[in-house]
Amino acid sequence: MSEELLKLDKLCVDYKVKDGYLSAVKNVSFSINKGEIFAVVGESGCGKSTIAHSILHLLPEHNEVIKGKILFNGEDINEYTEKQLEGIRGREIGMIFQNPLDSLNPVYTTGFQVAEGIMLDNVSRLDAWSRVVQLYNDVKMPDAEKRAKSFPHELSGGMRQRVMIAMMLARTPQLLIADEPTTALDVTIEAQILNIIKSLRDEFNTAVMLITHNFGLVAEVADRVAVMYAGEVVEQGTVYDIFDNPRHPYTKLLMKALPRKTKKEGRLQTIDGSVPRLTENRPGCRFENRCPHAMDVCKNVDPEHVAVTESHSYRCHLKKEVE
Ligand SMILES: Nc1ncnc2c1ncn2[C@@H]1O[C@H](COP(=O)(O)OP(=O)(O)O)[C@@H](O)[C@H]1O
Ligand SMILES: [Mg+2]
Repeated sequence: MSEELLKLDKLCVDYKVKDGYLSAVKNVSFSINKGEIFAVVGESGCGKSTIAHSILHLLPEHNEVIKGKILFNGEDINEYTEKQLEGIRGREIGMIFQNPLDSLNPVYTTGFQVAEGIMLDNVSRLDAWSRVVQLYNDVKMPDAEKRAKSFPHELSGGMRQRVMIAMMLARTPQLLIADEPTTALDVTIEAQILNIIKSLRDEFNTAVMLITHNFGLVAEVADRVAVMYAGEVVEQGTVYDIFDNPRHPYTKLLMKALPRKTKKEGRLQTIDGSVPRLTENRPGCRFENRCPHAMDVCKNVDPEHVAVTESHSYRCHLKKEVE
């Protein structure tokens, strides 16, 4: 029996903007089990980072309204105070971002910064340092001891991302949220970082929420997938459900656009039309204006989830299989 670790239940995030509210995330529900790699995939601007940041209340401007439940080990952490959340951040839920330089302090060695986190658990300086070197070896950092003494600017992008992963690993979180962790890296380094993330899962049973706009990457590492469009999850299922039997017209178009052999190149391709203005939060399917199968009902009625199997569902008024 798989154990549920994180469950989002009708998560909605609205940003306050000049002309009202922008509905960046609408009624998003999915759960991530212990030890599973769960991909959240969708085009830029579809709300992926907003979901990640709302889980740990890391949204920058404090100009947002978060509704719905964010259950972590059964507790609604959306109700947590800042102090309670501090106990979870880093310790239970770790996060890595696209650009590690934003998270590293330029004036301290990377090893010192990793050690700082370890010493929070009352570990001595000396022990913390040997743990850092061990962690650098775990994340396959070349020349671990030397690199621990390097400053962020002395490391390559891939090495900095290894530092961030080591920093997260130091606290053995139950969930690692990785927001486009390899987008800034070249393909070879990307593969190495993904292998490290996979081995974390295998070794420590860490669950991973992998956020990406790259479908090819999803095919390689994910167990289950949520496909997002304009702030909503349009389809979710196992990686086999999504790739072998896509049901939502949007997912189908994406799959068609995916080059068959070079999955690595599987960045999402553009589809005719544009995403609706999210400040006009009217009912109806947000994909309606781009959908080849749009019907009248799609314009003004929210589609319901259609279950294909226990693991697979999509949100569409089309109930029967379409090509
Ligand atoms: N701080 C903010 N204030 C207002 N709108 C925002 C803010 N951050 C993101 N958005 C908007 O919310 C939507 C989702 O953005 P984001 O979560 O960053 O998407 P993704 O990570 O999928 O690229 C976009 O339309 C974006 O412009
Ligand atoms: Mg993002």
